[in-house]
Amino acid sequence: MHDLVFKEARILDGARERIGSVAVREGRIVRIDDRIDQAATHELDCRGRWLLPGAIDMHVHLRDPGLEHKEDLASGTAAAIAGGVTTVADMPNTRPPTLDADSFQQKVARARERARCNVLFYMGLGSDNVDQIARVVGHPALAGVKVFLGATTGDMLSGDAALARALDRLDLLFVFHAETEALLRDAKAAFEGTPTAADHHILRPAQAALAGARTVASLALPGRRLHIAHLSCADEVPLLDPARGITGEAAPHHLWFTAEDTARQGNLLKVNPPVRSSRDREALRAALADGRVAAVATDHAPHTLAEKAQPYPVAPSGVPGLDTMVASTLALVRAGELSMARAVDALSTAPAALLRLATKGQVAPGFDADLFLWDPDATWTPSAADLRTRCGWSPFEGVPLAARPDAVWLAGERVT
Ligand code: DOR
Ligand code: ZN
Repeated sequence: MHDLVFKEARILDGARERIGSVAVREGRIVRIDDRIDQAATHELDCRGRWLLPGAIDMHVHLRDPGLEHKEDLASGTAAAIAGGVTTVADMPNTRPPTLDADSFQQKVARARERARCNVLFYMGLGSDNVDQIARVVGHPALAGVKVFLGATTGDMLSGDAALARALDRLDLLFVFHAETEALLRDAKAAFEGTPTAADHHILRPAQAALAGARTVASLALPGRRLHIAHLSCADEVPLLDPARGITGEAAPHHLWFTAEDTARQGNLLKVNPPVRSSRDREALRAALADGRVAAVATDHAPHTLAEKAQPYPVAPSGVPGLDTMVASTLALVRAGELSMARAVDALSTAPAALLRLATKGQVAPGFDADLFLWDPDATWTPSAADLRTRCGWSPFEGVPLAARPDAVWLAGERVT
């Protein structure tokens, strides 16, 4: 007897669409067939709707511990679930920062109590913590190592020596915030007058991101896994080379907004790296569509409206994204800019591969039943009241997107 059968859903079979019924037992997908007539505890008529693998967001800042007025493990993962994200990987710029094994273990323990979805954690690379990272290698909740080449929220910088040691010693995924610190400083020094949010892309110019991405590419060696976070420029794309272990992700805000939107939305769209020109945005969309950009990841970085209401120089950088990532990516599918196969790959399959989650990211027998049901004919225009993130706002408010999931399952248990 099956625990659950999804009947006659639209599913992907490789890159091809088909109608299939999906049986779940003990949290895993056990069978996929045109029809499944065997008895099941629960059956769900899915006709007309897509059954898709839960999204895996490999880049979030859940702010827990220490910054819970912005977000915490409970609110951030509630936003994830509502948005169709069933696994997230959390960044180390919390308080305390995740630079030592104890801080990592404390996050894991807190997640066990509070998280509503699967959570992995990155260790941050500091100037002298390779031994601490080595202590948690092999832990199932370790996502990888986060390296900041340029300072942003949390001011976590490591330096070349620590990076070389870490790369030599640790067989892990290295995710880079690739803006080069010296070029950020130069741009700031060269700016004349009083900057506003509209100038953010000038103060953190494309050259700084490009130099950072070139640094990452120069570190490639067989066996290394180097991943460039939040690609923001057209010219970063040619530096990606999966065969040499250089991969990249795009964030929804870089796929949807430009510096003109920052001029309109002000500090709400102040984010590092900045959103840039329409040429950059279109190039990132095209690279996502053909797979040169492997994954979509939110860089979910909530800050309160009060923090964002401060003058530009002191307002923190970052935008939330967990509530809206899946709906914005599937909106690109509806618009004909992205195939469904590429959307599912970018949201689920590719991040699962990068994070080495062997049983996640696909609707296939043997995989975890982390799933959501999606109505391709419905739409959703986010408003603040719809959002689960504690910060309570989104740059996508008022932007027509695809629907959010109708329902979400985690290991076969319905969670919405
Ligand atoms: O805009 C950003 N906000 N970029 C980052 O790299 C960090 C993030 C944050 O944690 O607020
Ligand atoms: Zn980030």
